Amino acid sequence: MKAKLRMDAAQLALGGPLGFATERDLVALAAALDAVEVPALSSTEEGLLALRSELPGGFVAQVRREIANGNDPLGELFCEVRSSVSRRSQGAVYTPLPIVRWMLRRIADQGEPARVVDPGSGSGRFLVEAGRAFPRAELVGVELDPVAALLTRAHLAAAGLACRARVVVEDYRAVALPRIGGRTAFVGNPPYVRHHLIEARWKQWLTDQARSRKLQVSQLAGLHAHFYLATALHARPGDFGTFITAAEWLDVNYGSLVRGLFLEFLGGRSIVVVEPSERPFPDALATGAVTEFEVGTRPDSIRFERVATVAGGLATAEPRMICRERLESERRWSQLTRSVRRGPEGYVELGELCRVHRGQVTGANKVWTEGPHSAKLPDSVLFRTVTRARELFQADGRLASDSMLRRIVDLPEDLSVFSASERKAIDRFLAAARQQGVHLGYIASKRRAWWSVGLRTPAPILATYMARRPPAFVRNVVNARHINIAHGLYPREPLAEAVLERLTKYLATGTSTQDGRTYAGGLTKFEPREMERLLVPSPGLLMQQTS
Ligand SMILES: C[S@@+](CC[C@H](N)C(=O)[O-])C[C@H]1O[C@@H](n2cnc3c(N)ncnc32)[C@H](O)[C@@H]1O
Repeated sequence: MKAKLRMDAAQLALGGPLGFATERDLVALAAALDAVEVPALSSTEEGLLALRSELPGGFVAQVRREIANGNDPLGELFCEVRSSVSRRSQGAVYTPLPIVRWMLRRIADQGEPARVVDPGSGSGRFLVEAGRAFPRAELVGVELDPVAALLTRAHLAAAGLACRARVVVEDYRAVALPRIGGRTAFVGNPPYVRHHLIEARWKQWLTDQARSRKLQVSQLAGLHAHFYLATALHARPGDFGTFITAAEWLDVNYGSLVRGLFLEFLGGRSIVVVEPSERPFPDALATGAVTEFEVGTRPDSIRFERVATVAGGLATAEPRMICRERLESERRWSQLTRSVRRGPEGYVELGELCRVHRGQVTGANKVWTEGPHSAKLPDSVLFRTVTRARELFQADGRLASDSMLRRIVDLPEDLSVFSASERKAIDRFLAAARQQGVHLGYIASKRRAWWSVGLRTPAPILATYMARRPPAFVRNVVNARHINIAHGLYPREPLAEAVLERLTKYLATGTSTQDGRTYAGGLTKFEPREMERLLVPSPGLLMQQTS
């Protein structure tokens, strides 16, 4: 479909490398599909009307046919015309249609809504599907981006749904949703935008609104948390809904607001973790979490499911019911979607034996890694360090030599301990770093002394934590340091050498990618706490093993 559209668009000679490459072209197409005027675009309206007449009828008819067949050519063209970088900054990553349909089936299982609201409607995928699924429902899209709003209108118009639809170009947090007689279903994919792109006044709004409801809130929360809060404010008892977002709020501190809203204000019923086991959807990079809620209810237990996205759809696994008290006391929820793994007799969680710590972030590897710019620095400030995951993969279980490792400059906070000649070399090195603005970088400026990287002490066992394969566990006999590409395993109590050796071997062979979090394309990540949950034989059991 895409290739065909491009070819037809190229014949339009509308300019740009693809032939159909500007937002103006897209807006003209929307106008040709009878999208109703969008206020924010009205100044250019005349030009658009003129452009509309330039579009060959055949092309417009083809777009109509695609829409009638259940596709979203407008969304696809939008994703081509607007770069992925700028779309990401607005949280405009559209939901794959199989997931949209699946979520709407779950809504249908809960009843027929009188109104469907999509916060951040994008190209209108959810609204059009909802319009088809619920023939009497009023359809409301709220979209801040006027071009996307116009696409929603065009999509609805071409699908024959415009008469019961309303698309508002406004911020979802500020929009007024009039009360209606029946139930409203909130469905969609709240935009995922990180906190540093969120305006201070909205962060303040989040804090004020959350605090007044006695909810824990962090200003590090992303835009999706703002949308959850806005939904709790817009909704009335009896309203219900389903949202898909990236899954990180299940586990991170700044996700506590969404967890609190889900449990207390939205009437959360179920959470489905959608894990991309393949990469069938180009835009869906991260693991998703689909929530289902019914405002005004307070279920005693919440249904947890884990599904895998496979080409063409979703494969469901056995659901689990988790009681509310457990969710209230747990700070991380994604583990709860996995079936409990019980180890054989004598097995313990790795965390009982070792703390797992990610290596230090330098903030500017180029500067802090030894090179010509660090010549003449005293040897005492240069540390052999694992700086690349492949150094651990290649070590084959035992880091027996450090000669291949690069050295990291790690200066103490107190520079008065150096002799005059050492101090001269250090000052020269730091002056060059300053010139590059290293002292102003986010990480450096947060350190007590910006020049002191603060590498962790050598960990007896090192592990990779992000790859398309299980982690490499390596016995670090050369006492190398590690930066944030690796985790270090630090025994809580001293462990005998034989135990360390056997533990490393056990972890290297007994850990599977299933134990971590899998992202699109099979990339698996183990956060330190996840690694601590791995089941391993106790030291006594390890000692009984014959080597
Ligand atoms: C993740 S996309 C979802 C689009 C569509 N619902 C879908 O699932 O395919 C989020 C949408 O929210 C819009 N958006 C971002 N910030 C917004 C805000 N403050 N108010 C309303 N819409 C917003 C973006 O422009 C984007 O179209």
